Amino acid sequence: MRILVTGAVGMVGRAVVEHCAARGDAVFAHDRKSLDITDHEAVKLTFERERPDAVINCAAWTDVDGCEGNATLAYSVNSYAVENMAASCRRVRAVFVTISTDYVFDGTKEGFYTQRDDPKPQSVYAAAKLDGERRAITASARTIVVRSGWIFGPFGRNFLSTIMERARRGERLKAISDAYGTPTYACDLAARLRELAGIDLPGVYHVVNGGRGVSYEEFTREAVKISGCEECEIESVSTDTLHRPAARPRNSRLRCLLSEAIGLTALPDWETSLRVFAKQTAD
Ligand SMILES: NC(=O)c1ccc[n+]([C@@H]2O[C@H](COP(=O)([O-])OP(=O)(O)OC[C@H]3O[C@@H](n4cnc5c(N)ncnc54)[C@H](OP(=O)(O)O)[C@@H]3O)[C@@H](O)[C@H]2O)c1
Repeated sequence: MRILVTGAVGMVGRAVVEHCAARGDAVFAHDRKSLDITDHEAVKLTFERERPDAVINCAAWTDVDGCEGNATLAYSVNSYAVENMAASCRRVRAVFVTISTDYVFDGTKEGFYTQRDDPKPQSVYAAAKLDGERRAITASARTIVVRSGWIFGPFGRNFLSTIMERARRGERLKAISDAYGTPTYACDLAARLRELAGIDLPGVYHVVNGGRGVSYEEFTREAVKISGCEECEIESVSTDTLHRPAARPRNSRLRCLLSEAIGLTALPDWETSLRVFAKQTAD
């Protein structure tokens, strides 16, 4: 397939580019310099020139607290640009795959969020991402929205890579004990994004690693153990003590009814993928 990737140097973008290239796709990888997704005309011209079969949008403004103070930019990148990319995909008859977030839910549910649950975003970031989902679906029928969460991976900086670096330096860590999610390994997510582009079945998917879900604290403890730093001290803290500008859901565990219905194999459990990640980052 001819695959155009936006946000190609971000954590997920790099994993997608690497995965697609390894399986022999023609990959058109764009970072912000070669394609700013908020430049609607540039997006249209680039899609027309490169004629992708699928566009995988990995670009986003992911600074959740930053978005809280700048709704204009948050909507420009995470919503209106997503709508425009979907419209540009329709013009060139490409599948549009775009990544959304577990933060579209308010976190009050016990258990896993599925496609039957109504989103109720609690932050500007989450509201803009949900708006982007809906606009994209309206702009092109061949839109695949992939909600994911707690993504960790070998590229770029993320919650987990920071923790592991600090643990290996012997620093004391703080971890939130009252927020639960389903961790997702960027490389597993990348493979599923490519698979969904090939299947070309529009809809809203939830893509996370398998397993029971976990709190940040349990996730941190497991990561520290796997990286061989058991002696590292971990202080358990509650979400409220952090006083962050943007609210986050207390529970954002995801499960995908649609993937199950069409017979997609579940992604590996997060513990398994965490071990793969730990080995990668230790080398
Ligand atoms: N990380 C998570 O835990 C998580 C959880 C749920 C959902 N997601 C979603 O997963 C997707 C990928 O996230 P990620 O973790 O890979 O984020 P990331 O590492 O921050 O990557 C996002 C990329 O988008 C680029 N970008 C920002 N504004 C742009 C613009 N106007 N034009 C073109 N590129 C632009 C960024 O470039 P600059 O570096 O130049 O800004 C960056 O390379 C996003 O849709 C995010 O909302 C992430």
